[in-house]
Amino acid sequence: MDRLKRLNRIAGALVLVGGLCLDAAGATAQVAPKAAGIESEGYEWNKMEGGEKEKALTLEGDVENGEEAYEICSGCHLPSGAGRPDGTFPQLAGQHTTVIIKQIADIRAGRRDNPIMYPFAMSLSDQQELADVAAYIQTLPIPTDNGKGPGGDLELGKKLFDRDCVKCHGEHGEGNAEKFYPVLAGQHYKYLLRQITAIAQKKRRNANPDMVKVVEKYTPEQLAAVVDYMSRLTWPERSGK
Ligand code: HEC
Ligand code: HEC
Repeated sequence: MDRLKRLNRIAGALVLVGGLCLDAAGATAQVAPKAAGIESEGYEWNKMEGGEKEKALTLEGDVENGEEAYEICSGCHLPSGAGRPDGTFPQLAGQHTTVIIKQIADIRAGRRDNPIMYPFAMSLSDQQELADVAAYIQTLPIPTDNGKGPGGDLELGKKLFDRDCVKCHGEHGEGNAEKFYPVLAGQHYKYLLRQITAIAQKKRRNANPDMVKVVEKYTPEQLAAVVDYMSRLTWPERSGK
C-alpha cells in the first residue's frame, strides 16, 4: 500500500476514535451491525456462512504487508503486540492466525461487540489484508511480563484449570489453532477476567457454548482464581524470553 493512502487511513481512523464518527467525507457514522449471537436461538458458534472469515482462512498471509497493516493497530496494542497490563487492550503477540481472523471477522460482522476498535477493524481493506495482519501478529514473540493476578488462591485456580480448561486451552495456554481456541499464555489477568466474566454472563456474543456451559456455573471467586492461574502460563515455543 502506498504511504499516502496509509497515512490518510490512519488520519481517518483517528478522527473516528475522536468521537466525531465522521469519515473523511464528513458522511455517516460507522456503527457496527448487530448479528445474532449466543443470546439468540439456533446460534451456531464459528459459523462460516461462506463469508469473509472463510475466505481469509484460505489465503496465505504476507508477513511484510501485515507489518504495514499492523501500524494502525499498534497505537492501542503496542508495536510489540503486548497490549496493556491494565487489561484495556489485550496482548496479541503470538496469537494463532486463525483466532485473529475469527475475532476480527466476528467484530466486523457484528458478532462480537467492540465499539472502540470497530472502525480500525473496518480499516483493513479486504480479506487478504486481514490474513496478512494475522500472519504478522503470529510472528511476534509472546511477552512473559504480562499483568498477573493477585495470587490469592492459585491452588484452586490450578484445580479448576486442570479439570475444566486444559482440554481446550492447553497446559501452556497454547490453545489450538485448528479449532480456533486462543493462545492465552502471556495474556493480562485483567483482560482475562473481563472476558471470562462476559463469557459466563453470555455477553460476549461470539463465545463458544461448550465453554459457556462450564463457566456459567462458576462463582466470581472461581472465575478470578482460574484466570489468575492462567495469567502465569508461558508457552516457550512462541515466547520472547
Ligand atoms: C483504539 C484502540 C484499538 C485499535 C487501534 C485496535 N484495537 Fe484491537 N482491541 C482493542 C480493544 C479495546 C480490544 C478488547 C475489546 C474487548 O474487551 O472485548 C481489542 C481486541 C482485539 C482482538 C481480540 C483479542 C482477543 O483476545 O480475543 C484482536 C484480535 C485485535 N484487537 C486486533 C486488532 C488489530 C489487528 C488491529 C489493527 C487493524 C486493532 N486490533 C486495532 C482496541 C484497539
Ligand atoms: C470447549 C473448549 C473450551 C473450554 C472447555 C474452555 N474454553 Fe475458554 N475459550 C474457548 C474458545 C473457542 C474461546 C474463544 C471464544 C470465541 O470464539 O470468541 C475461549 C476464550 C476464552 C477466554 C477469552 C480469551 C480472549 O482472548 O478473549 C478466556 C479468558 C477463557 N477462554 C478461559 C477459559 C477458562 C478459564 C476455562 C476453564 C474454566 C475455559 N476457557 C474453558 C474454548 C474453551
